[in-house]
Amino acid sequence: MVVKRLQIIPVEVIVRNLAAGGMAKKLGLKEGTPLSKPVVEYCLKSDALSDPMINDDHIEVLELATKEEMKIIKDTALKINEVLKIFFRERELNLMDFKLEFGKFNGKVILGDEISPDTCRLWDIKTGERLDKDRFRRDLGSVEESYQEVLKRVTGMIN
Ligand code: TMP
Repeated sequence: MVVKRLQIIPVEVIVRNLAAGGMAKKLGLKEGTPLSKPVVEYCLKSDALSDPMINDDHIEVLELATKEEMKIIKDTALKINEVLKIFFRERELNLMDFKLEFGKFNGKVILGDEISPDTCRLWDIKTGERLDKDRFRRDLGSVEESYQEVLKRVTGMIN
């Protein structure tokens, strides 16, 4: 794989379409509750601090990214969400939420990291079955089979 070496911005960018995981827990919402618009959250990438949630002002005062860079990041994350939502819906998968990371290359902000069932929550549209890392995180079993199912659908080899 040929990649660009980015200067990573230490902010996890999470986009949510339905409440699940951390948001459901924090706000007392039932997992699977639809949201009237996508919700964007930021977390500081810090294992020592357990990746705390932060906002635009924290990012600015900590000098992790400028206001202008954060506008690019948020606009891009929402655009990626629109593309991925349709991509997965066509494969009968509900994109509940996902995490992105951005970095700088020659001064320009670009998308980095990976997009996979490790970094997305994907539920089967019909059954609501979880086909992502929550199978591992919550010890639900069939981890490999679920990832293979996503691969099958993504590569168009459905049934
Ligand atoms: P959360 O509900 O646990 O905050 O996770 C939101 C989304 O971000 C979910 O799709 C999983 C993804 N994620 C990561 O990829 N890496 C992480 O370290 C965390 C906390 C979440």
